[in-house]
Amino acid sequence: METARSNDRDIILRAAGIKRVFGKGTGAVTALKDINLEIRRGQIVALVGRSGSGKTTLLNILSALDEPTEGCVYFEGRDMTAWSEKQRSAHRRKQIGLVFQSFGLVPLMSAYENVEFGMRVAGLKGNKETAERALERVGMRERMKHRPTELSGGEQQRVAIARAIAHEPVLLIADEPTAELDSKMGLQIIKVFRDLVRRLGMTVVMTTHDPGVMELVDQVISLEDGTIAEQSDETLSPLGR
Ligand SMILES: Nc1ncnc2c1ncn2[C@@H]1O[C@H](COP(=O)(O)OP(=O)(O)OP(=O)(O)O)[C@@H](O)[C@H]1O
Ligand SMILES: [Mg+2]
Repeated sequence: METARSNDRDIILRAAGIKRVFGKGTGAVTALKDINLEIRRGQIVALVGRSGSGKTTLLNILSALDEPTEGCVYFEGRDMTAWSEKQRSAHRRKQIGLVFQSFGLVPLMSAYENVEFGMRVAGLKGNKETAERALERVGMRERMKHRPTELSGGEQQRVAIARAIAHEPVLLIADEPTAELDSKMGLQIIKVFRDLVRRLGMTVVMTTHDPGVMELVDQVISLEDGTIAEQSDETLSPLGR
């Protein structure tokens, strides 16, 4: 039954009949169509597919940064497409953490300052303990006084993750978080995600091109020309790993 499913406590996100068209008339681009998916709480889910297949567009919709042209997206059973922009931005601030390919740290600030500043920019009340705890969670507390140029790519990404999770969001959205890292460092980032899932009960939705990363996640959703081509769901208990 429709309502029973969307209220299922295990399902943190559900997309039903998503379509996203950019532009109008002859120049219109259909980036997504017929997207139906469910993401279970406590899982790490990877969206994969060629460049232009719609991965970033879908992440933006799942994180309420963007709205679908058609269809509904349920977050914990509530339809986000019915929300006002104000509600959506409050939702993003409180419930969502964002991580990007190119870290996005401020070069002149230390790791600690980046986390603390990131929280302030997001309008979140942070304090010293919150920022330090977040750095601790990604194994970067001992390096908190170091600037980005003094850190490896993988370490910089861990600081960016600390900034994204300092407010303990329930959902971490990461667009190609390992793309600029070598495979060993990339796998370390997935370990950090796994740890956050275990310790904080977070859910992670990410995109990747890396086959090594795909092997370590709980579910792989493969996009082709804006539709779901394949969906692997091992439905393993998140605690089983
Ligand atoms: N704002 C926009 N206006 C017009 N077209 C867009 C816009 N954003 C995305 N698109 C188009 O939508 C399609 C999907 O783009 P998207 O960025 O989601 O792909 P992707 O799978 O993330 O690719 P990549 O692996 O290169 O990051 C592409 O054809 C893209 O050109
Ligand atoms: Mg993309």
